[in-house]
Amino acid sequence: MSERFLVTGGARLDGEVTVAGAKNSVLKLMAATLLAEGTSTITNCPDILDVPLMADVLRGLGCTVTQDGNRWSITTPAELSWEADFDAVRRFRASVCVLGPLMGRCLRAKVALPGGDAIGSRPLDMHQAGLEALGARMRIEHGAVVGEADALIGAPVELAFPSVGATENILMAAVLAKGTTTIDNVAREPEIVDLVEMLQQMGAQISGAGTSTMTVEGVEKLHPVEHVTVGDRMVAGTWAYAAAVTRGAIRVHGTSASHLAAPLERLAAMGVTVRPENDGFSVDAPDRPRAVDFITLPFPGFPTDLQPMALAVAAVADGHSMITENVFEARFKFVDELVRMGADARIDGHHASVRGRERLSSTPVWATDIRAGAGLVLAGMAADGVTEVNEVWHIDRGYPRFVEDLVALGAQVERVTD
Ligand code: UD1
Repeated sequence: MSERFLVTGGARLDGEVTVAGAKNSVLKLMAATLLAEGTSTITNCPDILDVPLMADVLRGLGCTVTQDGNRWSITTPAELSWEADFDAVRRFRASVCVLGPLMGRCLRAKVALPGGDAIGSRPLDMHQAGLEALGARMRIEHGAVVGEADALIGAPVELAFPSVGATENILMAAVLAKGTTTIDNVAREPEIVDLVEMLQQMGAQISGAGTSTMTVEGVEKLHPVEHVTVGDRMVAGTWAYAAAVTRGAIRVHGTSASHLAAPLERLAAMGVTVRPENDGFSVDAPDRPRAVDFITLPFPGFPTDLQPMALAVAAVADGHSMITENVFEARFKFVDELVRMGADARIDGHHASVRGRERLSSTPVWATDIRAGAGLVLAGMAADGVTEVNEVWHIDRGYPRFVEDLVALGAQVERVTD
């Protein structure tokens, strides 16, 4: 069964929308439950496929997992299996976040290696080096990353780049290590802060979350908790950029404007009125956006996951934009699809040079990953005619109610199943 979206251009977004919990947080929170025997509950979980897939990974490790709407309860046994089931792990890349908790809990782990994907190669060298610094022996064997340790001993770790995944894995191993671990050049994303807050509730001793250095005092044992997943800033940012593309006005609930400071600042520079609110923000874009430049960087910089939305708005902005991608090398692949829609865009290495056009022109396009897919839908909203976006399962992996939410905001988007 293949599904595609038909996007009719020209509709203006207007209304309110609430975002669910963040995909990039919930999977790590679920993995963190491995660290404590007993039943933990994660609430505000988004209704996306990766959540049940992660539940399968945890079941494969010996956990019992149940769902009640957006609440997932995970019961972790005293004796965990340390070998993550190949079939379950292979299906989605983020499953590698069980590596750190397994090392912390079992001093052993075997996790199938996720392959590269459409946005570029995704090595695990920093994950491995960090765990090695804590005393683990790490190796790649038969397509899996394998770790073993007699004990994990706290140590200084310095990351070559503030990798989100490496920060999480090292952190989740260090919380149960003996002694003090300092991690320098850590990722500062709000999803990391969310994970740290949950670990702290579980009894972990961590300071410095949200700054470049975190210090972890290892503890003997953690206990289960209930935790609310932080709102999805990427979904919220996607709606904000969709409003700019359609010259609309929307309010977004369920997130924090401070988690989107850079993307909202860029919208303001384009001439969009942005107002932070208690539980989100509002954006009002009455005119054609002015072209601005974008540079993706680790948080608090402009997020690479919103780079396709930046490209979509640049494609119809007034003037010339330069977009620089610093996080994933292959993230401009989808620009070929935008060019087929009439965008005046040129790629040179990790820069995209875009001259805005008043309107784009509809044609069938193919999504290559979650965010590129969403970017193409935004472009379709600013195109003449009906844009057919194919391979939308990518988009569904990151957006729980993509079509429903857009339609409620006034967009003309329809899901078609062949
Ligand atoms: C997470 C997010 C993803 C987001 C990215 C950057 C999840 C499930 N995914 O991915 O949506 O785009 O952060 O904000 O949370 N790298 C290495 N060696 C390593 C680890 C990473 O070279 O050991 C490189 C990667 O190839 C990439 C860069 O570091 O070029 C950033 O990757 P990282 O921050 O680790 O991203 P993920 O955690 O995979």
